[in-house]
Amino acid sequence: MTTATWTSSGHLLGLEGLTRDDLLLLLDEAEACLPVLRGDMPARTDLAGRVVANLFLENSTRTRVSFSVAARRLGGQVVDLLGSSSSASKGESLVDTATNIAAMGVDGIVVRCGASGGAALVSEHVDVPVINAGDGRHEHPTQGLLDLMTLRQHFGGTLEGRTIAIVGDIASSRVARSNLWSLTAVGADVVLVGPESLLPADFGSFIPSGSGRGSVTISHDLDAVLDSVDAMMMLRIQFERHDGDGIPDDYRQRFGLDAARAARLGVGVPVLHPGPINRGLELSAEVADGPRSLVLRQVTNGVAVRMAVLAGLLASDG
Ligand code: CP
Repeated sequence: MTTATWTSSGHLLGLEGLTRDDLLLLLDEAEACLPVLRGDMPARTDLAGRVVANLFLENSTRTRVSFSVAARRLGGQVVDLLGSSSSASKGESLVDTATNIAAMGVDGIVVRCGASGGAALVSEHVDVPVINAGDGRHEHPTQGLLDLMTLRQHFGGTLEGRTIAIVGDIASSRVARSNLWSLTAVGADVVLVGPESLLPADFGSFIPSGSGRGSVTISHDLDAVLDSVDAMMMLRIQFERHDGDGIPDDYRQRFGLDAARAARLGVGVPVLHPGPINRGLELSAEVADGPRSLVLRQVTNGVAVRMAVLAGLLASDG
């Protein structure tokens, strides 16, 4: 089996630890997959004869389907195991579930789970590549990669010195954490924006400074940053992780991106959202579907990124 240069472990468990060069190489490989998705190049055969198991113990639309599409575009086969229809619903543990799937001879496992660190735990118990498709509040590495790819396309090159706002439920967000690692690694500056209850002050020191990394700053005032950012990444309010607490009653008024606020952004400043969108809360329908929105481009890029990751980790040497 090939070993991609961007992983020393043979897994993709997070973007923490990936260098600028690792990330840019992955994006280049993902860009090379786009013509296959568009039908401009024939389907690839990197995963011919290989079986990928999607082990999704939390719900998903984009990530699960795009891993499936990606594996098939590479000539592989996919089996799906969902929490609701698996023996996890009878109390079987994540590790027991994963080791049983591995014992069936699959060639790689894509894991989504509610436990932070769950994908790393699985990787310690199976002898096939593990890809983290979102584990609790820890990381969502392929989302971070597709966001980086989308921003790089938009800016037509380097993100160094660009200021990216990540807005919303930062505390709950594995997307924010993966983006913090990747954006700062390529030299972008990140401003985290949200209410105190969803954006603890220690996020300002989440990323170690230095070694060419971009900076991380915190703001609790969205209106104060609108005219100084190069891109807006809006996050979903994750009601399922809050039990109703921590979300201010006036969240939409203070932190929602509607048409009036979007009009105050600089010319061409794009709006991203990982989905699913709470329309009318963190993002208005007008902005989500408007000319600044890169939401569906993110989704398309997600397939390309997942092709690059699957090919890097699971392809045979041919
Ligand atoms: N962005 C994202 O992870 O979406 P899904 O939960 O639908 O996979």
